Amino acid sequence: MKVALRIQRFNPDTDKSPHFEDYTVESELTDRILDAILQVKGLTDGTLTLRKSCAHGVCGSDGMRINGRNALACRELIMNHKQPIVIEPMKGFSIIKDLVVDMEPFFNKYKSVKPYLINDEAAPAKERPQSEKDRMKFEDTTKCILCACCTTSCPTYWADSDFVGPAALVAAHRFIFDSRDRAGEERLDIVGEKEGAWKCRTIFNCTDACPRGIQVTQAIGEIKRKEIFG
Ligand code: SF4
Ligand code: F3S
Ligand code: FES
Repeated sequence: MKVALRIQRFNPDTDKSPHFEDYTVESELTDRILDAILQVKGLTDGTLTLRKSCAHGVCGSDGMRINGRNALACRELIMNHKQPIVIEPMKGFSIIKDLVVDMEPFFNKYKSVKPYLINDEAAPAKERPQSEKDRMKFEDTTKCILCACCTTSCPTYWADSDFVGPAALVAAHRFIFDSRDRAGEERLDIVGEKEGAWKCRTIFNCTDACPRGIQVTQAIGEIKRKEIFG
């Protein structure tokens, strides 16, 4: 069947601003939106530029705005979207070309929360044990694939790009609540700054947008409680 797509295009070498172009492709309703976009790229216009890799919801590279909501194009079925399916780059980052945005500020914020285990104590003979109960405190936030769908759907981030954003807070949560880590206080100081967790206004767009189903707003709330009560 014919599927109608409306894709935002922007070539910095020739365009002053982004504009939309319409395309029609032959697809099955059970195909993913990524398949339809790749048909445009493969059969109609090879200059269409996007990021994608795994095509199975694992790498997090094809986050984009689909009919007004952030999602991974490889996880969205055509049958679940009204046509024309409007495809735009994620909002709040500068556009490099077409659907490709500049992710560098996003990754800089991620790095700012020290997203790795810190423990300078002597290594035990075998391993650093952890109870199941302790593990479950941060199980949810281990699932992040850094797609940026949360941060680029957050109105607070749109209004203030200095806000560290929900994805970085999810990364901070993952280590603050890890019983093996010893830098929780340091991370709490980082995310307790003016542009950190307290900037979150509990809008929940991040939770709605997360393709991994992470309870992002809840994780941010747990960080705030930890800031107050320890
Ligand atoms: Fe993507 Fe969810 Fe991680 Fe945000 S928390 S970057 S939406 S996987
Ligand atoms: Fe933004 Fe999510 Fe907070 S949408 S304001 S980070 S709850
Ligand atoms: Fe890897 Fe979609 S292409 S998550």
